[in-house]
Amino acid sequence: MRSALALGCVSLGLMLLASEGAAGKEAVCPPTPADYLGPFYEPDAPVRSSVGSGYVLEGTVRSSNGCSPIPGARIEFWLVGPNGRYDADHRATLLADKKGTYRFESNFPPPYSGRPSHIHLRISAEGFKTLATQHYPRLPETRVNLDLVITPAE
Ligand SMILES: [Fe+2]
Repeated sequence: MRSALALGCVSLGLMLLASEGAAGKEAVCPPTPADYLGPFYEPDAPVRSSVGSGYVLEGTVRSSNGCSPIPGARIEFWLVGPNGRYDADHRATLLADKKGTYRFESNFPPPYSGRPSHIHLRISAEGFKTLATQHYPRLPETRVNLDLVITPAE
């Protein structure tokens, strides 16, 4: 009897959590983990949504507090070109749209210097901490949905 009561309480708790999440009131999105900025970051890359073809990264920029989309968030991308080198042609700045969504297309970055394939990203928005991270493409996937979750500034 006691265990049945305990199970009932757990179920009720889970239902409450689920309903809060569905309502978006207490929703929590885990922040995207930070990753090494690396030596090849350069500010002020041209605004563009494509630097090649063959790999698509898309998703929504969100706040870790409530998961709300962040319209106009600024995302900087840089990756090696098909020849395995960083250059000006494989850098971009992209602004999330009014729903906080973005779509970036590039070549599939080859591994270089013993590192796995990766795309660098730096996400910034007013009122939020700037985040540097990396995305690791893995074949055969050539189209990946990646929400970018950043945390409010103190
Ligand atoms: Fe890199």
